[in-house]
Amino acid sequence: MTTTTVPTSYTAKKWNLAGLAGISDHTLEVHFGLYEGYVKNTNSLNEQRDELRSRGKGAATDLAFAELTRRLGFEYNGMVLHEYYFDNLTAKGNGTPSSGQFSDAAGASFGDFETWKKDFAAVGGLRGVGWAIAYQDPKNGRLSNHWVSLHEDGNVAGFTPVLVMDVWEHAYLLDYKPAERSKYIEAFFSNVDWSTVGSRLTRS
Ligand SMILES: [Fe+2]
Repeated sequence: MTTTTVPTSYTAKKWNLAGLAGISDHTLEVHFGLYEGYVKNTNSLNEQRDELRSRGKGAATDLAFAELTRRLGFEYNGMVLHEYYFDNLTAKGNGTPSSGQFSDAAGASFGDFETWKKDFAAVGGLRGVGWAIAYQDPKNGRLSNHWVSLHEDGNVAGFTPVLVMDVWEHAYLLDYKPAERSKYIEAFFSNVDWSTVGSRLTRS
């Protein structure tokens, strides 16, 4: 068996998203900083757990180990979901996918793209901080829209995130009033990179 070398830590990604419609460069700058915090905290949690284990303090009954472990879902998902989110944005967005992969998938599961979009926007408007995520079930190709509280409560194991929208207030509060989340959601749609979204589908 060959041994694969894996990185010992995560490196923050960079995006050039200047000039999005309705999401200011200042919002993005602040948001990138928050994302980098999740990368840093994920690495830190792993280092601290390694260190505890090296000292023989890595049992379930060791309180420090247990507390660090319970934080993994928040930090890991905070890191990964932001990467999906920034990856599915582009300053060259045009609001709706051209006919093809994603529209076909939305149509197959919801009847048509507009019905899928209305459902996704409604999920994104739920009270609380979290994420709206369109997943594809890799077993049957079905799309479904889900609400994820914080970063970790509501993700579906094994499903493929296809479109990811951050609806924490930090994603829009510099550009919109708290009650104007629907305006941010429309702005988000106008910046979606549908080719990236389509490339995430594992089944047509
Ligand atoms: Fe965020």
